[in-house]
Amino acid sequence: MKYIVSSVLLLPLLCITSSSLQVAVIGTTGNIGRTAIQQLSEANISTKCLLRHDLDSTSPSATIATSLAKLPNVQMIKGDISKPETLPALIEGCDAILCLQGPPKPNPIKSMLPFLSNENDTSHSRIVNYVGMQNVINAVKQYNPNMRIVRLTGKGEEPYSIFSILINMLGNLAKAWNYEGEQLLRTSGVKYSIIRPGLLKSSEEYNIPPKAKMIRDNGGNMKVTPVTYDQIADVCIQSLNHENCNQCTLTVMNVEEAEGVDDYSTLLEKVENDKKGRFPDSLLDQHKMGARIGFVATVAFLFGVLNTVKSVIGFLLGFI
Ligand SMILES: NC(=O)c1ccc[n+]([C@@H]2O[C@H](COP(=O)([O-])OP(=O)(O)OC[C@H]3O[C@@H](n4cnc5c(N)ncnc54)[C@H](OP(=O)(O)O)[C@@H]3O)[C@@H](O)[C@H]2O)c1
Repeated sequence: MKYIVSSVLLLPLLCITSSSLQVAVIGTTGNIGRTAIQQLSEANISTKCLLRHDLDSTSPSATIATSLAKLPNVQMIKGDISKPETLPALIEGCDAILCLQGPPKPNPIKSMLPFLSNENDTSHSRIVNYVGMQNVINAVKQYNPNMRIVRLTGKGEEPYSIFSILINMLGNLAKAWNYEGEQLLRTSGVKYSIIRPGLLKSSEEYNIPPKAKMIRDNGGNMKVTPVTYDQIADVCIQSLNHENCNQCTLTVMNVEEAEGVDDYSTLLEKVENDKKGRFPDSLLDQHKMGARIGFVATVAFLFGVLNTVKSVIGFLLGFI
């Protein structure tokens, strides 16, 4: 299948509108996580949501979680993806788990200088995007081997693209570790669907043109476009309807209206499994090299700017 496309937002979640279905969510308080929980609650699907904070604390995340916890069918479970012992209680009784977590933005200076950045810090992308996914896979294999893991990542197979370089350089190699986490899933033997969205925006920031939705399976390359949180939460949830979405890596973007359609479910029913040998075992070294090249280029650029400013000042002072 080449392209599969869709435009009605918040599709009716046909077959999965079942009160017996239970879905675990990691990334509860995030932009995508909270949107997915709202959509699941509206569809009368129970959720068990991993939460790192106490509900009675005053942090912004706790405030978001407090309002989510008031929705019907929503249960909060205290835990952290970096703490494997907290995951069995989350996945118990669930049919699927949505892994929508992402690391917090690091200090860019620390990110650019690897000797200042601790890869074992629980907020580092290695822990959140890679070790955390290994923890989820281990828990699923041991306690609930039939459940599907849905993981949100992003385009990550072009280590030398400007987007990858910037995100890796300033974001603790977030793209690199997301790709490595994907590979854990693809080689794990568990049921999985990997969703690679474009640039995430809220519905207020971006109007989706009618009939603009598109999905490409097998991690197919597509031009990066904005996509809304609603759209991506919808794809993650609707993928659970389709058994053929098991063992799939899906790129999700918006396209020109002439190329798109308006219904994710008609697209999802056509997706095919990831092809063996299609995905490189690891791209970690290339991603690290791209980030290093980006750092050197940034330093060279800043030196160039400084020298130019110095020359201009020297030139102007010559007139005084
Ligand atoms: N932004 C984009 O344009 C874009 C594009 C493509 C892909 N993505 C990917 O999409 C994912 C989600 O994006 P988003 O905008 O929803 O992220 P977000 O708003 O930053 O939310 C991240 C969520 O992950 C949680 N989290 C962080 N560390 C955790 C841990 N150790 N254990 C459990 N939960 C943890 C955070 O919880 P706390 O509240 O407790 O911190 C928060 O709920 C990310 O992986 C990102 O890489 C983003």
